[in-house]
Amino acid sequence: MSSADPVFSFEDDHETRAEICGSILRSLPEWFGIESAVEEYVRGARDLPFIRIDIDGAAVGFCSLKVNFGINADLYVLGILKEYHGKGIGTRMIGFIEGYCREKGIPYMSVKTLSSGHPDENYAMTRKFYEKCGFVPFEEFPALWGEESPCLFMLKRVAG
Ligand SMILES: CC(C)(COP(=O)(O)OP(=O)(O)OC[C@H]1O[C@@H](n2cnc3c(N)ncnc32)[C@H](O)[C@@H]1OP(=O)(O)O)[C@@H](O)C(=O)NCCC(=O)NCCS
Repeated sequence: MSSADPVFSFEDDHETRAEICGSILRSLPEWFGIESAVEEYVRGARDLPFIRIDIDGAAVGFCSLKVNFGINADLYVLGILKEYHGKGIGTRMIGFIEGYCREKGIPYMSVKTLSSGHPDENYAMTRKFYEKCGFVPFEEFPALWGEESPCLFMLKRVAG
């Protein structure tokens, strides 16, 4: 394994989860520009299962998971530092989470993101990422996050 390979692991310390979540979301203002929303994600991520991605011993990305009814692992919030985008790391993280779901007998994964009802180009890339990872658009919630931010719910069946 070269030193630049990403390492995926679960983080159990609540304070460390909050620190990684806050610093990575604040480094991605094109996606997470609303400070009150970042604070809410940081609060939520403290107490939820948390996957961290490390390169050379430093956190470069994360995903916070919320398991609903024991059958659906919802990607509550996730992000990777911009300099590491487009290198396959996010796809590998989804694979890691899918492995966790298989181990736990969780048959579905889901995510809520900004829908194409909003013209934002960064979120258009994010939706493409989820589609490439096997998520399909499942339902749109135009007012869940307020009418300025239409929400798309996407679902993926865990392979195997
Ligand atoms: C979405 C995200 C986790 C994807 O991780 P990633 O490591 O960049 O994605 P991968 O390299 O595994 O997959 C790339 C594919 O996703 C798409 N993609 C989505 N966002 C991208 C980005 N910022 N840069 C490059 N490709 C991106 C491309 O279609 C790409 O496919 P291609 O390489 O065949 O063109 C990451 O880009 C990110 O942190 N984005 C900002 C935060 C965000 O969107 N969070 C989720 C909010 S709901």
